[in-house]
Amino acid sequence: MDFIDLKTQYRRLKPSVDARIHKVLEHGQYVMGPECLELEQKLAAYVDTKHCIGVASGTDALLIALMALGIGQGDEVITVPFTFFATAEMIALSGAKPVFVDVDRRTYNMDPDRLEAAITPRTKAIMPVSLYGQCADMDAINLIACNHNLPVIEDAAQSFGATYKGKRSGGLSAIGATSFFPSKPLGCYGDGGALFTNDDKLATIMREIRVHGQDRRYHHPRLGLTGRLDSIQAAVLLAKLEEFDQEVAARIRLGERYAELIGAKFGTGAQARVHAPEVEQFNTCVYAQYTVEVEQREIVETRMKNLGVPTAVHYPLALHMQPVFANLGYKEGAFPASESAARRVLSLPMHPYLTDEQQKQVVEALAQAVA
Ligand SMILES: Cc1ncc(COP(=O)(O)O)c(C=O)c1O
Repeated sequence: MDFIDLKTQYRRLKPSVDARIHKVLEHGQYVMGPECLELEQKLAAYVDTKHCIGVASGTDALLIALMALGIGQGDEVITVPFTFFATAEMIALSGAKPVFVDVDRRTYNMDPDRLEAAITPRTKAIMPVSLYGQCADMDAINLIACNHNLPVIEDAAQSFGATYKGKRSGGLSAIGATSFFPSKPLGCYGDGGALFTNDDKLATIMREIRVHGQDRRYHHPRLGLTGRLDSIQAAVLLAKLEEFDQEVAARIRLGERYAELIGAKFGTGAQARVHAPEVEQFNTCVYAQYTVEVEQREIVETRMKNLGVPTAVHYPLALHMQPVFANLGYKEGAFPASESAARRVLSLPMHPYLTDEQQKQVVEALAQAVA
């Protein structure tokens, strides 16, 4: 069994993917070819924002967003300690200081009730993460941000395709940043990402930053990077978009079925040996990861592996405990919800082509592993 099965998806989409890639090989515009513009238009329509800017990765998307907001040395950006490293890494790389706010223990997303206390005169932006495929409580976060005149960047790397109160992730704040890493809900065949905004000025600046800060050829009013999405990746994404709605529906159905199987096997109360993830009633979740909680995780992982079921840990160490962030001065115990999650989370195989039989096998293996 694969943790994420990209081969089945390719076999289904082969005619379209191959034709799209071959078209790029024929016209030879590998950088900023016509596929890039076509993709940006389709993604902007999908997310319902005025602008979409294709970039080289989700990491670049975050960095470009921070740079476009003029964030740097002496500034603070608030985020969560329970996320992929890139979120806080890009804040630090921009020159700013990552300031952490703990997550809500149920959803693993920023706890809005703790946000206000972290805001200082140096705060320049708030960067919530929509982890595992469901959005953070963006209305609550946007309201606090608005009261303090701060922009919100949604790290939507794991939530492309998810909805929050009927609106698509990526289009819920000043800037949305997503990733098209192959294992993401919408993934390309290499690295890729995108930025979303309704703000014309920010869109222009972000377009400039992704090409070395140039506003016209060899004229640079600002600094930037080689941060473009290439045409072959855009071609792959255009082909995959054709099936994306069905894949999102399959992810939602599989997530619900996992919850049913886990609930039936382990029960649901605080005493349950395995906890299925909770999805807020105003969210749909695309399950970039289907992540449960168990005790004695290392034993469970090893047993599952021996039973032929791959698992992964997203993420084993909260970011305030990462060696590189020791200088921030946070101590163990500072963010109990994040630390507790980091000790217990375990991601199960999840992709749109997982069969009912495979899901049963995963939950059976889990039952044996936690026994
Ligand atoms: C929450 C989060 N932020 C940022 C990123 C970075 O995206 P990329 O790998 O495309 O650079 C990822 C990717 O794993 C992610 O999960």
